[in-house]
Amino acid sequence: MNRRKFITSTALAAAAPLVLTNFKLFGADAPSNKLNLALIGSWGRGEAHFDSLATQNVVALCDVNEDHLAFGLKKFPTAKTYVDWRKLLDDHKALGLDGIVICTADHTHAFISNWALNRNLHVYCEKPLAISVEEARIVRANWLSRKTKLATQVGMQRHAFQNFNRVREMVRDGVIGELKAAYAWGNRQVKPAGASYDQAKGILTCKGQNGTSTRAGYLPDAGAPPKNLHYDLWLGPTPAHPYNPEYFTGKPGANCLQWNMFWDFGVGQVGDMGSHTMDLLWNAVDAKLPTAIEASGDPFNDAITPIKCESHFEHPANDWRGPMRISWYQGGAMPSSPKNYVDLNKIGHGAMFKGTKGFIVADFETRIILPVGNEADMTYYKPRPKNELLPTIVHFQKEWFDACKNPSLKTACDFEYSGNMIEQMLLGLVAYRVGKKLEYDGVAGRVTNAPEANALLSRKYREGWTLNG
Ligand SMILES: NC(=O)c1ccc[n+]([C@@H]2O[C@H](COP(=O)([O-])OP(=O)(O)OC[C@H]3O[C@@H](n4cnc5c(N)ncnc54)[C@H](O)[C@@H]3O)[C@@H](O)[C@H]2O)c1
Repeated sequence: MNRRKFITSTALAAAAPLVLTNFKLFGADAPSNKLNLALIGSWGRGEAHFDSLATQNVVALCDVNEDHLAFGLKKFPTAKTYVDWRKLLDDHKALGLDGIVICTADHTHAFISNWALNRNLHVYCEKPLAISVEEARIVRANWLSRKTKLATQVGMQRHAFQNFNRVREMVRDGVIGELKAAYAWGNRQVKPAGASYDQAKGILTCKGQNGTSTRAGYLPDAGAPPKNLHYDLWLGPTPAHPYNPEYFTGKPGANCLQWNMFWDFGVGQVGDMGSHTMDLLWNAVDAKLPTAIEASGDPFNDAITPIKCESHFEHPANDWRGPMRISWYQGGAMPSSPKNYVDLNKIGHGAMFKGTKGFIVADFETRIILPVGNEADMTYYKPRPKNELLPTIVHFQKEWFDACKNPSLKTACDFEYSGNMIEQMLLGLVAYRVGKKLEYDGVAGRVTNAPEANALLSRKYREGWTLNG
């Protein structure tokens, strides 16, 4: 019995009290209460979901690489297979599908998410949720219009580390006084295969055919793709680029680093570790969309996203704090340390919060408090008793399964929280490209002082592909 039939039949049972004695047979993990799910991207990051997905029914797998489909089939031998996610979604009724898990390349995330939401399916999407401001806004709006019946989660699973809520509690409980600013950073420097990076100039080069050095771009044409790879479907909606095997030579779960620095396939570290690390900050500040954005970084390369970059966002006050500034730094750009004995460079991916009475410095699992100034005597701060700590997420994927079964339950990284967060980060890349401070109307989704920036809020797609299909 699939879940929808189960719900219908239990509703009927509720109308007949005599049958209710059997209700306990349908516990949360009883076979009849399992979700029917599809996994799109059945290798690499997809494999990280295998064990939690195995607690539900995986009825379909989709992968553009037939070898990777075969890999997924070893774990889920009864699943129906697809190479085109649109065909899978066409079959959602016949499959009795309740939801999908998306582990594909970033340039397809918002597409697949929208198509699934439009078919009333629950969605777990790997990060980043979107790679353009327009994509982020549409996918968020699509979920918000269905949030009472559909569950969403973006794969920022570090959110379940207890440190996330401990940091939030400290910020909210005033350990650093009034919050004024917050900074997140990541030190990854990912470059295309065979390219060299001149850190001082911020320029990526590769060897040309006659041995001369040329500006790095999309990888050169390397002939036809192998038969097992449906390269045209891998490109999907994004502008076409010639096949090169280097896009596909990464280790399982890290292959995204082979393609995500190219503008048409991803947004580099903004969407990669930026999603995880900004989440550590975002969870503690209750921000929505910024009103102003400025950014700077490596000289612009029209193929490759910047390695070194920093972006700064002005956020209005909310009901518990005044206006604040949020900053993101990557690839060697770093915030200044409040004290030279605190070496922020030793934290590869971290966040720092600045208040009127000091700083909190955190990585994903630990935090330190740095009281600053004569007023910072800590008498104003009382740690919460254990029973008032924010609840722990026991299992990030299960949180989504539970919400699919009962959408009144909240997920930590739903498409509103994650959509706002990635929209902010993507606005940073727009400001970097335009090279001036942007003023942003978050309600309209328009830059109000630089018309050229509005053209960069959306991406161009190949003919035949619809973002909100
Ligand atoms: N949450 C995390 O910690 C984490 C870690 C690693 C990767 N990721 C994310 O997971 C995603 C996949 O990363 P990866 O390193 O596994 O990449 P990958 O290139 O190995 O792709 C994963 C699988 O998806 C398949 N695929 C790609 N496009 C597809 C499409 N349009 N339709 C069907 N299948 C498709 C690939 O063939 C491959 O089998 C990325 O978005 C990445 O950001 C998240």
